[in-house]
Amino acid sequence: MPRHIAIIMDGNGRWARKQGLKRVLGHKRGSRTVREITTECAALGIERLTLFAFSSENWKRPKREIDFLMNLLREFLVEERGEIMENDIRFTAIGHLHRLPESVRQVLDETIAMSAGNGGLVLTLALSYGGRAELADAAKMIAADVAAGRLAPADVDEAAVAARLYDPDLTDPDLLIRTGGEMRVSNYLLWQIAYSEFWVTERFWPEFDRELLHEAIRAFAGRDRRYGALTDET
Ligand code: FPP
Repeated sequence: MPRHIAIIMDGNGRWARKQGLKRVLGHKRGSRTVREITTECAALGIERLTLFAFSSENWKRPKREIDFLMNLLREFLVEERGEIMENDIRFTAIGHLHRLPESVRQVLDETIAMSAGNGGLVLTLALSYGGRAELADAAKMIAADVAAGRLAPADVDEAAVAARLYDPDLTDPDLLIRTGGEMRVSNYLLWQIAYSEFWVTERFWPEFDRELLHEAIRAFAGRDRRYGALTDET
């Protein structure tokens, strides 16, 4: 069983177009999938679920679509608070959260604070998130610590970088799922996915469901994770 699942939720727009609907309605349907998959992960005893909800590059989309996504996010957090608390989910977020509209930041902060004592699934939304920006931000912190004499250049190692990521407690995902068929990582969790098992489905995010999640988990269970080493069979 994977302890940490990360998902690139792609294909909302294509799903909507396929149904003859406006792109944004794909996001709306996609938020239903977020609910279903989060509840299922909590029921399965998965420890962490980290969803790519808005990338740094998504700011380049038309203002209408960005506004729709921000509203959807705010509504989702308000509507799902009951479910979050009932399912003992701890909610967190990573990314350039300061770039989000004040109204979204407020509900984010409230939901994070409200669920801080929960002990079940940790649900993390990556918002205004980019993996390269996360690494550049960590490098900036290291440079400041070195300049201030708090850190010796010789002590800059993997642990020093990991400790300066947006959420140092965010463990490496065991399984990275991507919907919508593209074979790329799109600047997602670049540091943390070094040894993640990658599983891609052609299915668009709005039609991703429990059964497909189980299929991904079964595929993961069949993988031989060697982390660069050899095992008895090899
Ligand atoms: C990719 O689809 C998806 C996004 C850019 C945003 C993901 C947002 C959601 C799943 C809904 C809201 C989330 C929450 C947590 C309430 P795309 O638009 O890039 O699809 P395309 O590749 O078909 O154009």
